[in-house]
Amino acid sequence: MPVIAVLGAQWGDEGKGKVVDMLAQQARMVVRFSGGDNAGHSVVNPHGEFKLHLIPSGIFNSGVACIIGNGVVINPEVLLGEMDKLNERGVDTSHLFISDRAHLIMPYHLLLDGLEEEARGGKAIGTTRKGVGPAFADKAARLGIRAGDLLDEEALRERLRSIIDYKNTILTKVYGVKALSLDEVHAQYCQYGERLVPHIRETTIMLDEAVRRGDMVILEGAQGALLDPDFGTYPYTTSSSPLAAGACLGAGLGPTRLDRALGVYKAYCTRVGGGPMPTELHDETGELIRERAHEYGTTTGRARRCGWLDTVAARYSSRINGLTGAVITRLDILDVLPSLKICVGYELDGKKIDYFPGSITALARCKPVYEELPGWQTDTTDIRTFEQLPEAARQYVLRVEELIACPVNLICVGPGREQAIEKTPIL
Ligand code: IMP
Repeated sequence: MPVIAVLGAQWGDEGKGKVVDMLAQQARMVVRFSGGDNAGHSVVNPHGEFKLHLIPSGIFNSGVACIIGNGVVINPEVLLGEMDKLNERGVDTSHLFISDRAHLIMPYHLLLDGLEEEARGGKAIGTTRKGVGPAFADKAARLGIRAGDLLDEEALRERLRSIIDYKNTILTKVYGVKALSLDEVHAQYCQYGERLVPHIRETTIMLDEAVRRGDMVILEGAQGALLDPDFGTYPYTTSSSPLAAGACLGAGLGPTRLDRALGVYKAYCTRVGGGPMPTELHDETGELIRERAHEYGTTTGRARRCGWLDTVAARYSSRINGLTGAVITRLDILDVLPSLKICVGYELDGKKIDYFPGSITALARCKPVYEELPGWQTDTTDIRTFEQLPEAARQYVLRVEELIACPVNLICVGPGREQAIEKTPIL
């Protein structure tokens, strides 16, 4: 059985949670590999409707070991709250494991995320203010506190002492806000530790054993390729890699062990936060998509920017991920439109280009070149085979497949587990 990475191939919110929930039916392990509680995965299954931020979407299947990998930054309060909510609704979380190498979001990360955004003024990134960026910055600066640090309260206190001194200097001298108390932060994290320690493991051994046994393993992404700090619309990006390469690093798996890289695309585009988005619609079509699809952030409730599918960006993310297959989600949202546009190229300063520019100032000047296709104006939510889709919907999918140069494995036509059409097998 293979190791499959499920990756956001646009700007996040593509519906990865549903895809992981579906695949987890056959999997033995799901590993979340990047991001933090900036992510929000909506899952609708026989247990009900859930919004997960940190816990892998495989949690509903008790036979699946769910791992929060080393590449994730964890806010312990959020994680415990999520576990409690699941437990209250009868979902078992004893099969949840946390990498001892995963970094923790600390109170100063939350404060600094907000203060830094305020300081950026009109150039704010539009972060989720969950402390994710500052936590990853500390990881790189070697100032992080990791889940494994909760195992030794005394050592934790020593490590925190110098870090809090430094953070307090920034909080008080740069931003003029109140200093944090070492005692309070230490006591709070020791409390979190009491509940989390039973879940903390050297998870790369578990992962290696699963791969050697031939278990099906899913690496669950957060955010999307166009938010990658290297390849996304920098600096309007997140701080950890949502790419296939990031999946290997954030789970603790050698790249040679990855069998499939599955890119999840919405049938149109959305983006939340700042930064260029060439196909954004500021008209009633954009509004219609937003309302039909309820495009409001799972984490922040912010209205998402909506636009036509951008296959320049889609082909780019397919390439940098080395996708073996694609999932197209939310095709049903387009059911009512009389005609559809697909962005097939850009016009930059009067010249046609077919690549995604590295510079956001160039990307912001790109005007989309569209191809127009007929709509199908038929309800697709009960359709379960590709052949049953209206001809115009099939043509839309086939054209997207051609433009992104990657086979479409699955098409989703609603939030439910069963609302999916297999076009070509993933395996
Ligand atoms: P941060 O990850 O909270 O620092 O936010 C950085 C950028 O990534 C902002 O534009 C956020 O809106 C965006 N972002 C972060 N997480 C998600 C997500 O799960 N879905 C969509 N956008 C996200």
